[in-house]
Amino acid sequence: MIKISIIGYGNVAQHLIHAFMQNPTIQIEQVFVRKPEKVSYLHPSIKVTSDWSQLLPSDIFIIAVSDDAIAEVSSSLPLKNQFVVHTSGSVELEQISNHNRRGVFYPLQTFTKNKTVDFTTIPICIESEFSADLEILKNLAVAISEKTYIINSQQRKALHVAAVFVNNFVNHMYQIGSEICQENQIPFSILESLIAETASKITNLSPKEAQTGPAKRDDQRTIATHVAFLESNEMHQNIYKLLTQSIQKNEQEL
Ligand SMILES: NC(=O)c1ccc[n+]([C@@H]2O[C@H](COP(=O)([O-])OP(=O)(O)OC[C@H]3O[C@@H](n4cnc5c(N)ncnc54)[C@H](OP(=O)(O)O)[C@@H]3O)[C@@H](O)[C@H]2O)c1
Repeated sequence: MIKISIIGYGNVAQHLIHAFMQNPTIQIEQVFVRKPEKVSYLHPSIKVTSDWSQLLPSDIFIIAVSDDAIAEVSSSLPLKNQFVVHTSGSVELEQISNHNRRGVFYPLQTFTKNKTVDFTTIPICIESEFSADLEILKNLAVAISEKTYIINSQQRKALHVAAVFVNNFVNHMYQIGSEICQENQIPFSILESLIAETASKITNLSPKEAQTGPAKRDDQRTIATHVAFLESNEMHQNIYKLLTQSIQKNEQEL
């Protein structure tokens, strides 16, 4: 049985609690929340505290708070030589106070409130200061996910940048596409099948092999028409030109 305590009750904390609750080898000892009134529902077996001095002994303390608060929260823990991990993609392991044994338990997924996720498919990136602790993290990760990766802080930083490109930026492209559809009285849903196929084909093809469109074909006349179409929105026009250049540079180089 792995005993864990979770600090924070945001998106990640709530999804982790849900996933851990499904596994009989994990016991959630306690959740620390600074505003207990924010806790909507928790299983009666989980204790809640907002008082650092009331923390219960656990095998792992998981800090799932905003990136900027990780260092401060870890220094507030009245613990010595305990195993303390955070869940961030971009914060170095060293940001955790060195009063304790440090680690990272980063679930590589986008979590949204009230949107359930299948944790078994989510890669868990783990890192620890000491090799014995890596075993504890492996056991915890394997209990909820089929994909565990040992990733150091430098690699995690790179991974997070890559994730911003494939997740946040791609989603922003949806936003732009949606605005263009709306301005022209076209339902955005018309693009759903295209979006789904684009996402699914990169499981079999490299992104370079999967690329299509006027930039890849160097179809100058179509590109010029699109750039002219975007005349009224300089930001969208610049994004279009920059991405076109990037695709074309990629085609020439590789
Ligand atoms: N969201 C994602 O998709 C995602 C994915 C992977 C990893 N992560 C990482 O997981 C961590 C948590 O992200 P999240 O999305 O769950 O954030 P979130 O929903 O914004 O929740 C943040 C939590 O941190 C608490 N908090 C903030 N400052 C605090 C402080 N000084 N002391 C105590 N508690 C504090 C907040 O408490 P209050 O409610 O009282 O403000 C809240 O419970 C971050 O490191 C993030 O990078 C996020």
